[in-house]
Amino acid sequence: MSNPGANLDVELSLCQLLNPAVMANPYPLYARLREQDPVHWDPYLQSWVVTRYADAITVLNRFSADRAPSPEVFKALGCATLSPIAQLMTKQMMFLDGTAHTRLRSLAAAALTPRRVQTLHEIIQAVADRLIDRIAEQGHAELLADFAEPLPSILATEILGTPMADYRQIKAWSSDFGKMLGSIQHAAEFAPQIVRSLNEAVAYFRDAIREQETKPREGLVHSLVTAQIDGARLSEEEVIANCILLTAGSQEDVTNLIGNGMLTLLRHPEKIGPLASDASLIPPAVEELLRYESPTQQTIRVAQDDVMLGGKPVRKGQRVVALLAAANRDPERFTDPERLDLAREDNRHLAFGWGAHFCFGAPLARLEGQIAFNTLLRRLPNPALESGHADWRINLSLRGLQTLPVRFNALVPEKDSQFVSQ
Ligand code: HEM
Repeated sequence: MSNPGANLDVELSLCQLLNPAVMANPYPLYARLREQDPVHWDPYLQSWVVTRYADAITVLNRFSADRAPSPEVFKALGCATLSPIAQLMTKQMMFLDGTAHTRLRSLAAAALTPRRVQTLHEIIQAVADRLIDRIAEQGHAELLADFAEPLPSILATEILGTPMADYRQIKAWSSDFGKMLGSIQHAAEFAPQIVRSLNEAVAYFRDAIREQETKPREGLVHSLVTAQIDGARLSEEEVIANCILLTAGSQEDVTNLIGNGMLTLLRHPEKIGPLASDASLIPPAVEELLRYESPTQQTIRVAQDDVMLGGKPVRKGQRVVALLAAANRDPERFTDPERLDLAREDNRHLAFGWGAHFCFGAPLARLEGQIAFNTLLRRLPNPALESGHADWRINLSLRGLQTLPVRFNALVPEKDSQFVSQ
């Protein structure tokens, strides 16, 4: 006998995101899930998928973050070679609950105090200006490679307290870890490269820890190495695991905020002029871009007990996907949610998550986003897409573009500099 729910299973499965056409605009799929089955069992992902704002908050507040895949899970997915990553994840704050989580998070907080974020303001602006200087006279640029990728990567070296010259290397590792975070279904394909990157990053941070003994330098490595709780220090493995978490966490999402946000603005060109001429409009606009094209589309939790969620029985140990990007367009929470409203009020979106694991770097991410959009719109006049078509990376969690070719009015070189180049 055929299963009458089978069609619905296929129609509502997040596996459809592996289709580039669905990935280009996943929001109709998210809306169908929210309307037809807001707490949905996805047999392909072997997970519940939650799409309503209120349910996503319940999941983020009450369910366990202890979800690092076991070596057996990696084996079942055909990528047993990724098992060393599971061991690393069990030491990262993102995958811990309760006191184990707060212990690591409060120690790391010493490296990113509000005062430190404020002092990073000037550095972010200087880096953004230098990147724009390189393209302003060209009249066109690939905004990801030329701007949205290097900006957070250079900042990552500042936060970690490692040499700025290493930023390209740090970016390469981060891209590889990002592939694993949101593409575990086809991680087997990337497994050898991911494991190679992992081994290199572990060796890199082991050396950085050694260097702290002779040449201490402000940053996360230093904060974690010197931190003490009741006289006890973090183990070297814990320091390395959390430096690697920050390496990936501080780059991919910021790149995608800038890339997805610029694409969105270029598709609504009438909104660019006012933003370019009035910097006070930028902070609410960044919040709306975070809501509208959320860089982290989903995160996962595990049920700690048998519970009812939205009328469905969720069993202890089952995985639950909180689809943040769907919750961010829930009409029960946001007025006219499919509309881009850059001045939206009451915009408490879930792009940075919610509760204990609310994004550790959110104040810095907001600052980077605000400076990035302000600088791009002010310094690249009349920007437009070079092609009407946008290619998205296939990644269920991290939403980002492959490239973003843009043209704009080229800056005419000043007379003096013309003279110099002649
Ligand atoms: C636009 C940029 C960013 C977005 C959209 C973003 C999004 C998120 C989200 C949704 C979470 C929660 C994940 C969960 O609950 O499972 C999170 C956690 C985290 N983020 Fe971000 N993030 C961004 C930038 C950053 C930056 C710049 C840093 C570092 C400086 C950072 C470091 C972290 C860390 C360490 C966690 C784990 C926190 C914990 O487990 O307590 N993120 N981020």
